[in-house]
Amino acid sequence: MTDQLKADLLALALEAARRAGDFLRDGRPEDLGVAATKTSAVDVVTEMDIASEKLITDFLADRRPEDGVLGEEGASVEGTSGVQWVIDPVDGTVNYLYGLPSWAVSVAARKDGETLAGVVYAPMRGETFRAALGEGAYLNDRPVRVRPAPAFGLALVGTGFGYLAERRARQAEVVRHLVPQVRDIRRGGSAAIDLCDVAAGRLDAYYERGLNPWDYAAGDLIAREAGARTGGRPGEPLSPELTIAAPPGLFEPLQARLEELGAWHD
Ligand code: IPD
Ligand code: CA
Ligand code: CA
Repeated sequence: MTDQLKADLLALALEAARRAGDFLRDGRPEDLGVAATKTSAVDVVTEMDIASEKLITDFLADRRPEDGVLGEEGASVEGTSGVQWVIDPVDGTVNYLYGLPSWAVSVAARKDGETLAGVVYAPMRGETFRAALGEGAYLNDRPVRVRPAPAFGLALVGTGFGYLAERRARQAEVVRHLVPQVRDIRRGGSAAIDLCDVAAGRLDAYYERGLNPWDYAAGDLIAREAGARTGGRPGEPLSPELTIAAPPGLFEPLQARLEELGAWHD
């Protein structure tokens, strides 16, 4: 893997995310409604999610036609170059639908299972997070770093809930046990932004069960490049089963606590 490839992928991820994010911000219809539902009645997709994914995939196919693509709204191309783009065209769709500002476009490029570049653009916050493997994480043009690990009881912990009622009931049970043991819990509504908020020291930690690669691919790299440890159950990498991000020193007790609480199963 060459530095030139990483630089090229990062530049394209930045441009794709910027175009899609600006389109979503400037083109949001006043009467935006739900175009379809997915896994449940509250798992929604708007016409803008679909248009954003198309904008990104058209842009990338034009610039790098040999690459594979995996997008939340159905984009799926095998590719021949070994590079795969992992795209969430709107992360935080419910926030976007309601006019809340915490939503983002997430674009990552992977090669041989390794994420080389990641961008999370949150237009309503005026914030672009970016990272290339081994080169640190940036918010706009400023390097970011995780907050030093606090004592477990002083940690501000972000999390999220899936769209299925049974899974949520279990996730609420985990939170019920955790909330008296930490500083507080936050539920921002965008997993990609939550991971970037760990990177920028705005959250001490974040965890969630049930994410998909498009939710975490870019944010995981950004959090790690900012000094976070990320992973899943003890000894395992982060995955749809469980995603945890926190600075070393907080990551380990949080991972152990989440294991005890069974945060990895429904
Ligand atoms: C969701 C958001 C949310 C998280 C959910 C995700 P979407 O993504 O990241 O914060 O709790 O698990 O599915 O549906 O807005 O792209
Ligand atoms: Ca998402
Ligand atoms: Ca989405």
